[in-house]
Amino acid sequence: MNQFDSISLEEIKSIIKTKKIGCKIKYYPKIGSTNDIARKLAIDGAPEGTVIIAGIQTTGRGRLGRKWLSSKGGIWLSIILKPKMLPNIATIITSMVGIAVYKTLCTDGINLRLKWPNDIMVDDKKLGGILIEIGTELNTINYLLIGVGINVNNNLSDFPTEIRDKVTTLKILQGTERSRAHIISQFLEEFEDIYNTFDKGEQSTIFREWKNLLDTLGRKVKVVTENKIYEGVAMDIDADGSLVLKLSDTKIISIIAGDCIHLNEKI
Ligand code: BTN
Repeated sequence: MNQFDSISLEEIKSIIKTKKIGCKIKYYPKIGSTNDIARKLAIDGAPEGTVIIAGIQTTGRGRLGRKWLSSKGGIWLSIILKPKMLPNIATIITSMVGIAVYKTLCTDGINLRLKWPNDIMVDDKKLGGILIEIGTELNTINYLLIGVGINVNNNLSDFPTEIRDKVTTLKILQGTERSRAHIISQFLEEFEDIYNTFDKGEQSTIFREWKNLLDTLGRKVKVVTENKIYEGVAMDIDADGSLVLKLSDTKIISIIAGDCIHLNEKI
């Protein structure tokens, strides 16, 4: 047992300087998925900014219904938001979370980059991911759940052998374990800052900042959408957060959602 083995809620509460994000924080040593708990709490009227943190998730999920491995040592958390309905709300929030994770970890000499639309990457390996789930009714958002997973003190041996060369953790990158309470507090502060910017209507500033962090732009990519697979060069992010792709026949298309694979060539 060492000082970084558990997440101390008391420590987070004593250092966090936010007003809204983290107004209520719940910690579960072991649960199914923080997003599931967040959904129940949101339906029961939990306020915007409520945060749910887990030590271990037994049924953590990623995008597109994938399983998300959430062993001991990682940061697995969800934030409940209640934003206005906007057509591209999930993309904007994803971009804000990516920027907040970047600002939290960039001071540590880590070459953190983002992969469109939701991956947190270091040296082309996945350090974490973002999952947005929305509860809507007619044309209003009842709640929006941000799920964030970051590999911190977990070990490579926790991952199945077939993905070990595709993932990384802060412990591997830095050769030392980290206080997750500190990382979480800083991340929530960074996120609150940027969420305030968004509330002032500065969406274009946020997308501009996001574009600078996206490693996807200028690369050859394969994008798997619900009904088609595209291959081309990622050119830009447009005003609604879609990926602008130049196909091999030079046709230009915009893709709002999909799974993006970097084909490892910068153009
Ligand atoms: C992805 O890259 O596919 C998104 C991964 C999101 C994982 C987080 S961990 C906390 C929250 N609870 C979950 O079950 N999933 C998200």
